[in-house]
Amino acid sequence: MRRLVAETRLHPAELILPMFVKEGLEAPVALKSMPGVEQHTLDSLVKAAREAVDAGVGGLMIFGVPEKHDEIGSGATDPDGILNVALRRLREELGDDTVLMSDLCLDEFTSHGHCGVLDEQGRVDNDATLQRYAEMAVAQAEAGVHVVGPSGMMDGQVAVIRRALDDAGYTDVGILAYAVKYASAAYGPFREAVESTLQGDRRTYQQDSANRTEALREVQLDLAEGADMVMVKPALPYLDIVRDVREVSDVPVAAYQISGEMAMIEAAAANGWIDRDAMVMEALTSIKRAGAQIILTYYATEIARRLQAG
Ligand code: PBG
Repeated sequence: MRRLVAETRLHPAELILPMFVKEGLEAPVALKSMPGVEQHTLDSLVKAAREAVDAGVGGLMIFGVPEKHDEIGSGATDPDGILNVALRRLREELGDDTVLMSDLCLDEFTSHGHCGVLDEQGRVDNDATLQRYAEMAVAQAEAGVHVVGPSGMMDGQVAVIRRALDDAGYTDVGILAYAVKYASAAYGPFREAVESTLQGDRRTYQQDSANRTEALREVQLDLAEGADMVMVKPALPYLDIVRDVREVSDVPVAAYQISGEMAMIEAAAANGWIDRDAMVMEALTSIKRAGAQIILTYYATEIARRLQAG
């Protein structure tokens, strides 16, 4: 009876799997704070991507971990940089079997770990960063990505990326805008995954968790600038925002169940304090119930398989 009348159902096609690929790696490295998630080699990335696609997952979001970092994050725009190499390889192997997405941000590539380039005083320089994002978008499009995911929260980033893609002839490459991104305490495990060098915090460009109307302003701007999908991040602590955004957005709304959300579930489950499998399903169902049409989750392949098994 419960199954018959359930108001919210998850489907594999609406799940996106975030994945990490590290330059120069000989074998995949397991991440302690995110059980089951790995830093991939190019080969293990392709294998895990294929498994996700076979399980019915709707898309992949790829993050690169370079060997070298510098002030401007050169590896992000280098066609031989790890993320661009991985995208090219995945597109060759998977073709159009899935929606291939890329993180469009400099933090993995910069020596200081910020999402943008810095000015002389060491502050993030919004407009100089936009120039880098434009180049990065074109490099990723050249590598074969279907959708770019600008996650740096710079003002005007969607418009600049849209124009750069169009000018380079990539009018079909879409933009999944990280429209609403809070300066959360729950990004810790991710920063381990990408070996972040960040000192300090991102509070000059990510949002204050106290603010709700600000989230809607961010969404309106990204929609006006040409976003094809908008995202709220993190997910579970911000379900009210997911609902608000769903109500004003005329494009699909995504939510990102981030690394720390996963780590909290896993740590509690490892202590025997909660039922892991039930908690994962409850969290994802709640994110969808709140209004997310697309969910980025490290559990994507596992859940897709569970859903397929019925
Ligand atoms: C920035 C980026 C971050 C995440 C996705 N893109 C980290 C940050 O803003 O510090 C976090 C994802 C997660 O925690 O799972 N490139």
